[in-house]
Amino acid sequence: MENIKGVKGIADKYNIPVFFDAARFAENAYFIKQLEPGFEDKAIGDIVKEMFSYGDGCTMSAKKDALVNIGGFLAFRKKEDYEKALEWQIPFEGFATYGGLAGRDLEAIARGLREVLDEYYLEDRIGQVRYLGSLLSACGVPIVKPTGGHGVYVDAKSLLPHLPRNQFPAQALTVELYLEGGVRGVELGGCAFGHKDPETGEDVWPELELVRLTIPRRVYTDRHMDYVARTLRAVKERASSVRGLKIVHEAPVLRHFTAKFERV
Ligand SMILES: Cc1ncc(COP(=O)(O)O)c(C=O)c1O
Repeated sequence: MENIKGVKGIADKYNIPVFFDAARFAENAYFIKQLEPGFEDKAIGDIVKEMFSYGDGCTMSAKKDALVNIGGFLAFRKKEDYEKALEWQIPFEGFATYGGLAGRDLEAIARGLREVLDEYYLEDRIGQVRYLGSLLSACGVPIVKPTGGHGVYVDAKSLLPHLPRNQFPAQALTVELYLEGGVRGVELGGCAFGHKDPETGEDVWPELELVRLTIPRRVYTDRHMDYVARTLRAVKERASSVRGLKIVHEAPVLRHFTAKFERV
């Protein structure tokens, strides 16, 4: 909450509106409750209300903390902002009363937004992520600590130190996890965030080279987590034989969604 207040203070100083990416709002509120002094006895719903009191609105990918399988929304504090966005909604989504999401999905979102505030749910969900993190740490797989609310991030640079950045260690690890055990992770490293310097043409690499193991909520059991950890361990045991990759196709923007690779 201190960070949110800090952002709000700077934004106010420069007259910039604050919009939350609210995809993980309830998980974030849970972390505030767990970690921030003064919030330990507050209800998650009250923490959420305070968080949003510092914002002018939010974007929401409802597949996350609205606990639904599809959809999203924009929310605004000021009516004028809402009305401006509504004008743009017509060409992109259709008019408010008939475009976009079906009524059934809107109803599911409305319920999900309340259900996600249940602390037992949040403890179970975030506890499962923590459990996977502890299994991976126990078998020496390097991960980002502390674990987050929705997934565990594996440090591919440390796990595959023989691969240079231009051979995409995190993407190579993602491929190996799938081949080893059918485990689908996502690269968040040199492919997702690297680029060529427009002036020098040199590769510019992000500091981190991670694989995100995102855990869908209410799908997997802890036995599945055991399986994922075993798969990681098996790849770790043959790490030095993992081969690097080169890009053979990339889109001009957001290349990681559609890039194609070959082994080096
Ligand atoms: C915080 C956050 N915002 C946005 C997104 C992306 O949502 P979408 O795929 O609906 O664009 C994600 C996906 O993981 C996320 O974690």
